[in-house]
Amino acid sequence: MSSTGYENYTENNYGKKPRITNEEYRERLTSWQVPAIIEHFGDLTGKIFIDVGAGDIVLGEKMAELGRPKTFYVQDLSQPSLEAGLARIKAAGFDISNITTLVSDNFNFENVPDESIDFAFSNSLFSHLSIDSILLCLRNLSSKMKKGSKYMSSMIVVPNEEESKSYDWSFLGKEGTNVISYPVKDPFHYAESTVSLLSSFRTGFTVEAIHDYGHPFQKLVEFKKK
Ligand SMILES: C[S@@+](CC[C@H](N)C(=O)[O-])C[C@H]1O[C@@H](n2cnc3c(N)ncnc32)[C@H](O)[C@@H]1O
Repeated sequence: MSSTGYENYTENNYGKKPRITNEEYRERLTSWQVPAIIEHFGDLTGKIFIDVGAGDIVLGEKMAELGRPKTFYVQDLSQPSLEAGLARIKAAGFDISNITTLVSDNFNFENVPDESIDFAFSNSLFSHLSIDSILLCLRNLSSKMKKGSKYMSSMIVVPNEEESKSYDWSFLGKEGTNVISYPVKDPFHYAESTVSLLSSFRTGFTVEAIHDYGHPFQKLVEFKKK
């Protein structure tokens, strides 16, 4: 190892390799996403809902539980992931006519009408993003959200004094916790005080709360559209 210590640095490869989940993994992912959406949003029936960083659309088969949105936007930088999700959901016999895909790596929501979205959600997106990218996402999304609406986005939150160090989550001893998060590379963690400071960047959102979440180690951050 050289003096920098960063020889093992790797970016996530989502842009290069599609994210294709299997049924068992989808069941795990949705086991915390579905209850959180019901708790924080209630019934999605007839609403405009967006999943930012949707991957292969694990929520696609869960519309009976969540309520069928009028429009279900699924956004990701990986078109193959979204297409794989659409094909899987359709093959399972679901009506996908309310799903609209949005593909960009710079959070381009220009095809979404202003102030139209009722609810926005992300699972494990901000854990892969630097603060700059998080701010870009918030800034671009906020004008598309109705006033007072919520964006619930999961993040890796560490105690304030741990932010500048790497953080090994394996002490939790649960499935999916064999992960180290970092202040300088993906997967990114942020201190609670840093998350709260996101309110001060004039993104159009305020940070309302950091909620417990069913994810093995992430929290669910509540952003409210001003
Ligand atoms: C850990 S996966 C989570 C996928 C999905 N939310 C789920 O729960 O299965 C992270 C997703 O974020 C997407 N992503 C990462 N950076 C992104 C960006 N800048 N813009 C849009 N999507 C991004 C990746 O392509 C990937 O699908």
